[in-house]
Amino acid sequence: MIAIYPGSFDPITLGHLDIIERGCKLFDQVIVAVLRNPSKSPLFTVQKRIEQIRLSTQHLTNVEVDSFIGLTVEYAKLKKAQVLLRGLRVLSDFEGELQMAHTNKTLWHEIETVFLATSNEYSFLSSSVVKEVAKFGGSVAHLVPQQVALDLCQCYTETPLE
Ligand code: PNS
Repeated sequence: MIAIYPGSFDPITLGHLDIIERGCKLFDQVIVAVLRNPSKSPLFTVQKRIEQIRLSTQHLTNVEVDSFIGLTVEYAKLKKAQVLLRGLRVLSDFEGELQMAHTNKTLWHEIETVFLATSNEYSFLSSSVVKEVAKFGGSVAHLVPQQVALDLCQCYTETPLE
């Protein structure tokens, strides 16, 4: 069974990685799919995010990293995936995630969304929180894969705060 793990991953965090690792035990293949979203202005380019995810998932044999544009269900059809994988951190995630799962189901009735409860130690963690800490010079080494911590450090050293 093939699962798509779609998201922005700007950047990937240890919380995302936890979902990927656990998803790999449940599904034959997990495709981590970075959304190419023209209406957002991300910190990292799609290419950079793909590189970061590839480096962070090197130890996993059944992971593919890709990007997509448009509807997730159309991408899932293209990849012959039956499942969309998403992490749930806190109750406030639930409403939006459920809406997305229902919407996707109306678009393609064969798609199933599987939610994994984020491991307790990452329940507070998001890409936005990581960027906020890194922007003000805080250490994010315990929140993101090593390469991402280096990339963030470089990013905010090159563009110091005014
Ligand atoms: O990491 P994110 O930003 O929470 O991921 C959101 C994502 C990419 C899963 C969601 O925005 C998405 O699936 N976008 C693609 C457009 C789409 O399929 N929309 C219909 C579902 S509401």
